[in-house]
Amino acid sequence: MEKTLVLIKPGGVARNLIGVISQRIESRGLSITAMKLINAERSTVEKHYAEHASRPFFGEVCDYLTSGPVLAMVVSGTNAVKAIRATMGATNPLDASPGTIRGDFALSIEDNLVHSSADLEAAQNEIALWFPEGIVKN
Ligand code: CMP
Repeated sequence: MEKTLVLIKPGGVARNLIGVISQRIESRGLSITAMKLINAERSTVEKHYAEHASRPFFGEVCDYLTSGPVLAMVVSGTNAVKAIRATMGATNPLDASPGTIRGDFALSIEDNLVHSSADLEAAQNEIALWFPEGIVKN
């Protein structure tokens, strides 16, 4: 059993894709064990993307993730970290296969709809960052 962090980014929330994306996650056999719609603090987003701090797009991704509400969730299940990344598809939607969330609903890397933790260590850190209050269900 693994836990991972998923974000539906402001573009996905604005396009009313919360239901569609959550349904795909649950249909895969994974469970949503925490969920909240929030206006993310800039400091949270900068910590979240700290590994990209030296990249040219750092400012833009932080602007984007604070541009509107974000749906944060914890997803739990067998091999959840890798399974959810496969369900989302490649980071650049132009490389994402049809049938994945990005392959079906996104067109650009700047607005790739969703984020999920890269590995177990990142998942632990990101869940602690986005859910400092803890989660209800394990
Ligand atoms: P995400 O999985 O949230 O992690 C970093 C994000 O930066 C990535 O998805 C993209 O949405 C965004 N991004 C914007 N430009 C680039 C780029 N050139 N390369 C990688 N990621 C980018």
